[in-house]
Amino acid sequence: MNIEEWEEYGYVEAGIEDSISRIEESGLKKMVEHVCHSGGKRIRPIILLLVSEICSGSYSRSLNAALAVEMMHSASLIHDDLLDQGLIRRNLPSAPEKFGPSRALLCGDYLIAKSIAFISPYGEKVIRDFGKAGMDMAEGEVLDLRLDDDNFGESDYFKCIYKKTASLFAISASIGAYAGGADETLAERFSFFGNSLGTAYQIVDDILEFLEVVEGKESKFTSETLPHIYMRDMSKEDALEKSIDSVKLHVSAAKETLRTFRECPARDKLFQITDYITIDMLENV
Ligand code: IPE
Ligand code: IPE
Ligand code: MG
Repeated sequence: MNIEEWEEYGYVEAGIEDSISRIEESGLKKMVEHVCHSGGKRIRPIILLLVSEICSGSYSRSLNAALAVEMMHSASLIHDDLLDQGLIRRNLPSAPEKFGPSRALLCGDYLIAKSIAFISPYGEKVIRDFGKAGMDMAEGEVLDLRLDDDNFGESDYFKCIYKKTASLFAISASIGAYAGGADETLAERFSFFGNSLGTAYQIVDDILEFLEVVEGKESKFTSETLPHIYMRDMSKEDALEKSIDSVKLHVSAAKETLRTFRECPARDKLFQITDYITIDMLENV
């Protein structure tokens, strides 16, 4: 599967390009260009567009919301690279590495502010959910620092990844639903799909980190991983297997929810994305 060939990827790229072109020439623009041109799978905005399509919305009406979640995500990666002392991100020097920590911090702030501007026309409920996800992400990153807890266990881990990662996946899906005209009950089901997928994805990302097979990124500090936690009570092989079982459980939950939605090409693509960022990434493990 090549996500870069999808029309939704093209819409997101064009939207990002247009947004950058409106920034006046400055040091800040160069940083935004570096961050936004460095690649990235654009998973969250693509999920948002596909969900809005399932709910019979139009991409043109949902695009600014999609750009909002991608900008919030980009900001979170810059701030994460400040926290983890990230050196390489998306195969390039991280923003703190290239521009220094002060400028990188401000670039992250700028992108968060820009994301608020993008989400602002979508109504009170969407704006509140978007703000809540941003708060969750910051709280999750605080948990990830493990400053108050020497004995960070399984339940701490799941709380942390829900907050720092799954929350943004969940609102990408539910905001897509609202932008497509869905009611709260339907949007909640999409939120559950996003939450399950985001949880599975972060466990996979951590398994790859644990196995030291991460490509395109490098940081001085890394997060606690699920297999590492399980290894306190079992062999490495069993800990890995138990972690992979957890991924499969969350992937099954995501797919079970997806099956309840209207059958259409957009839903097929959400099934493909679900495998692409979870099971497929574990293929050679
Ligand atoms: C990286 O997210 C941070 C995690 C949640 C693991 P992505 O893997 O979606 O990052 P890009 O945007 O594709 O680089
Ligand atoms: C994920 O944390 C980053 C956010 C959700 C903000 P990680 O530290 O695990 O992600 P990578 O490995 O740097 O992409
Ligand atoms: Mg990191």
